[in-house]
Amino acid sequence: MKLTIIGGGSTYTPELVDGLARLRAALPVTELVLVDPDENRLAPVGAMSRRMLARAGHPARLVTTTDTTTGVTGADAVVIQLRVGGQAARRIDETLPLACGCVGQETTGAGGLAKALRTVPVVLDLAQTIAEHAPDAWIVDFTNPVGIVTRALLDAGHRAVGLCNVAIHVQRRIAALLDVPPNAVELGHAGLNHLTWVRSAHVNGTDRLPELLDRHLPALADISGLTGDLLHHLRTLPSYYLSYYYEHDRIVDRQRLTTPRAEQVADVERELLALYADPANDTRPPQLSQRGGAFYSEAAVHLLAALLGTPDATGGPDAQVPGVQVANVRNNGTFPFLPDRAVVEVPARITSKGPLPLPVPPLEPLYAGLVAHVSAYEELALDAALHGGVERVRTALLAHPLIGQDGPADRLATDLVAANRAHLPWA
Ligand code: G6P
Ligand code: MN
Ligand code: MN
Repeated sequence: MKLTIIGGGSTYTPELVDGLARLRAALPVTELVLVDPDENRLAPVGAMSRRMLARAGHPARLVTTTDTTTGVTGADAVVIQLRVGGQAARRIDETLPLACGCVGQETTGAGGLAKALRTVPVVLDLAQTIAEHAPDAWIVDFTNPVGIVTRALLDAGHRAVGLCNVAIHVQRRIAALLDVPPNAVELGHAGLNHLTWVRSAHVNGTDRLPELLDRHLPALADISGLTGDLLHHLRTLPSYYLSYYYEHDRIVDRQRLTTPRAEQVADVERELLALYADPANDTRPPQLSQRGGAFYSEAAVHLLAALLGTPDATGGPDAQVPGVQVANVRNNGTFPFLPDRAVVEVPARITSKGPLPLPVPPLEPLYAGLVAHVSAYEELALDAALHGGVERVRTALLAHPLIGQDGPADRLATDLVAANRAHLPWA
């Protein structure tokens, strides 16, 4: 099979290659194509990936190209993992909102909106090329903000599934605490991308979350970035993106004093690119663990294997590829209080016809309120990304629970559009 990675020059790519090599039985890739407009990244990342495949004895042919059409033609699946504007644009997302007392984050709040504005048109353009030259290919979207980008892809009629590593990361951390194999843990993971709560953790039919909350509270607090006291109160495990809501003001205070994540990541990326350029290196460097993408290669291989129905993707209890995986899919009644067309992040049975979300127990009002609020924001954010205009941006910001007030919404709309002008086709 031919697998194409758009944004293949990402410093994350060797992480994915490492997963492809380890899980090759699940996903027999014969051709791996890295597409990226930046040759200065593509060359070292491509060379490193080639050496890693060779060392692992993986038979796939590795191709690099700056041309999307060449890269996607005939692909069975395409992973999109790009960052429009790179870490420089991310730095603006993380700092500009702070001036209005709002959290600076690349996917949450005003920064996430700016990222959506930059990203949606680019991804839709690429998806159009994929539809023309690989009409049967599955698109797996890792590109943030995943909920909004996936909705844009589905609304445009593409065969797309959105993916994030948060669920698999939490699954693996919980499995380690319980000392069981990772796939034995079935998470009751529910919400929107980067806005989820784990409300159960079943192992062999027993919900072990209550026991975890009693016996491993400090470890769970560490996973979620929230206090043990809050977790004990909620009796659920929120993802660490919920700390931007439940600890908003504290995080803003801290962000005002610390180096933006974009700068830290830029340093790690420089180091990684230098390592990739050195022909002596042919294994996944430990520095990759300083990035937030833990287990993203496993999540990608599992999803691709299940979508493509490759040999080991049987989905039984002992299968290497779980039949049920957390993915970003159309709501279609999963949460009755959201429109069917909204995109939600829930466990879904992954089939070669696409993901089928499993029924989710009703969301408690505490979570349902926030999910409905943020989902409405996402709809307005997509409207702004598709149709442009400062006024649409302002409306989306008014709809976001972390902005909401006229003063910040008006000012951030003007300032975010001005700061991102180079990346906005309409500005
Ligand atoms: C997690 C999130 C991703 C995000 C990443 C950021 O993996 O699920 O959506 O892109 O963190 O990691 P970074 O190392 O760039 O801060
Ligand atoms: Mn994510
Ligand atoms: Mn104005």
